[in-house]
Amino acid sequence: MVSREAVIYDALRTVIDPDLQQNIVDAGMVKGVAWNEENGQLSLTLQLTTPACPLKGYFEQQIGEAVRRAMGERWEVKIDFRAHTLGASAAHLPQVKNLLLIASGKGGVGKSTVAVNLAIALAQAGARVGLLDADIYGPSVPILLGLEHAKPAVREIDGRPYLIPISKYGLSVMSLGFLVPPHQATPWRGPMASNTLRQLLTETDWPELDYLIVDMPPGTGDIQLTLAQQFRPQGAIIVTTPQKVALADAEKALVMFQMPLVQVPVLGIIENMAYFWTADLPERKFYIFGQNGGRMLAEKYDIPFLGEIPLLEEVVQRSDAGIPAALSTETPMADVFSHLAGTLAREVARLAFANTNTLS
Ligand SMILES: Nc1ncnc2c1ncn2[C@@H]1O[C@H](COP(=O)(O)OP(=O)(O)OP(=O)(O)O)[C@@H](O)[C@H]1O
Ligand SMILES: [Mg+2]
Repeated sequence: MVSREAVIYDALRTVIDPDLQQNIVDAGMVKGVAWNEENGQLSLTLQLTTPACPLKGYFEQQIGEAVRRAMGERWEVKIDFRAHTLGASAAHLPQVKNLLLIASGKGGVGKSTVAVNLAIALAQAGARVGLLDADIYGPSVPILLGLEHAKPAVREIDGRPYLIPISKYGLSVMSLGFLVPPHQATPWRGPMASNTLRQLLTETDWPELDYLIVDMPPGTGDIQLTLAQQFRPQGAIIVTTPQKVALADAEKALVMFQMPLVQVPVLGIIENMAYFWTADLPERKFYIFGQNGGRMLAEKYDIPFLGEIPLLEEVVQRSDAGIPAALSTETPMADVFSHLAGTLAREVARLAFANTNTLS
């Protein structure tokens, strides 16, 4: 006779993780299976590849159905979700599992807005998240997070000084804006800018992080190359708006990351200010800058389209007030960013698993 345990594991083997493209048992996701014949309860722990995994509902449904198909309708399944974020560690930053650059060729398309809100959405999903403002020419993270007057403390580690990141909204944050007076221009020459950024990254005492999100300056210059070549980021996310001029610059950034000497995986494209939306006309989307440009660019290069963000008056107001829109529960923005964060986290995990073929 086939043992109960074998029946359970056979049932669980019919459930496939769509990102790992393996069944959940052989992928090593299933732990601590226990069952009670009397009350028909089965419990297990499912190890996910990211706390921001948007597939929890999918797994609950698939596992419940598989178990009831194999064992009978009276069985109920209780799943305890755990996450161990996949990632490879960036070079020189062993405590950072995934270094992710938010970039675009063009200025003003919303890189900083996206970086800040994505970071918050990932943190709200339970991930450990850091945010580095790499725009040393015009740091905007201090304003976006209401940290204009923050001054990081310094701690000596092995006789060397390290900056302690500022904590806000669940993020560990560092910006050059914390170190220079807000209205002082910073006219760096290229190599000096790259050195300053390298220092800011390596001389900050980052805690253990699942994701370190980097708000990049616009362009495809020294800073982009330094970060890419010296730190081997796990991926870049390209932000664009739908206009032709923005798309052309986004394409330049994308091509730069894919160059043989750079080789940063482009995890996807986000289209910001995709359409205008207002609560007065909730059914309407006004495509004032054109439609689907970001999606088409993603298709052209066969990279994922991560999603679109509407143009909302509230985003500007909240940015200026230092309370990012992802924190709001009254408008669609929190949903938009939590969805984007989930899609991005899946993409990061999928790539890490493809490279290592292990969950640890
Ligand atoms: N979805 C949005 N809806 C409304 N306003 C937005 C949206 N995204 C960004 N903005 C606004 O557009 C302006 C530029 O955004 P942001 O500073 O994030 O762009 P950036 O790409 O980081 O610019 P820079 O190249 O100067 O670093 C800001 O005033 C911001 O509040
Ligand atoms: Mg910016």
